[in-house]
Amino acid sequence: MPEPLIKQETHSGIRTLTIQRPEALNALNLDVIQELSAAVQEAQSDSDVRVIILTGSGEKAFVAGADIKEFAEFDSEKGRNLADHGQELLFNRLERSSKPVIAAINGFALGGGLELALACHIRIASDTARMGLPEVSLGVIPGYGGTQRLPQIVGKGKALEMILTARMIGSEEALSCGLVNQVVSSDGLLEAAQKMASQIMKNAPTALSTAIQAVLAGYEDGVNGFQAEIECFGASFDTADFREGTQAFLNKRKPEFSGK
Ligand code: CAA
Repeated sequence: MPEPLIKQETHSGIRTLTIQRPEALNALNLDVIQELSAAVQEAQSDSDVRVIILTGSGEKAFVAGADIKEFAEFDSEKGRNLADHGQELLFNRLERSSKPVIAAINGFALGGGLELALACHIRIASDTARMGLPEVSLGVIPGYGGTQRLPQIVGKGKALEMILTARMIGSEEALSCGLVNQVVSSDGLLEAAQKMASQIMKNAPTALSTAIQAVLAGYEDGVNGFQAEIECFGASFDTADFREGTQAFLNKRKPEFSGK
């Protein structure tokens, strides 16, 4: 049996997904995209999993982009299909995950690799990480959502600077422009992601998933985010988690959420 491209480990409700293609700096070929998509779906349906951490194997790279060798001979139709298929199968699913996803960026996050981190809900980078969208240096543009999600996260000006210069930035610059939420030493990266996951896991799972839904609604075409928030807020009142959370507060005890 060949080694799986995605290693899956679960400890105390945290599912860590590690992309294992170190010989190509974890570049995203079709197989990685398919396996990762399946792993994300599996994590969604596994009731033991509360938070997902996504990282890359080895010390050098999170993900060095889409696999250049795979698309080097593509024409416009194949290029379009690559982006369409990848966005739908993986990037959009990741962003719409009902369970929070934290990217632990352990090295190069370039092109599709940075786009993968952008589709996660939270990004924590090691102090050695290097991030960028170098696609224009190859004669293409970002195709896995980078032209849309990067401006949403860092603002249009900084996003255009990063896209047009194709320049890699380090962790401190990424922190200062809001691209990453936190920077830690490389040997403390997974621990920091687990700590953040544990903090998130103290909260009601139904509320976490509804909060993600409400935030994303604001970025959807033709959707009024404030109205979506009102509906999501209202729906929370029908959950067992809401009853548990409020009763626990009133009775001065810790809540035990069922996720229902
Ligand atoms: N695709 C395929 N293979 C890749 C790769 C990629 N994106 N990135 C690295 N590799 C491979 C290299 O070809 C090399 O393999 P070989 O040993 O078989 O030659 C191996 O990984 C190690 O890489 P390097 O020898 O290049 O390592 P380095 O330390 O000298 O450089 C690097 C590291 C700066 C990250 C360099 O590998 C690099 O620039 N990689 C490409 C980054 C890039 O342009 N990414 C964007 C891809 S396009 C995209 O993602 C489109 C999209 O949005 C959909």
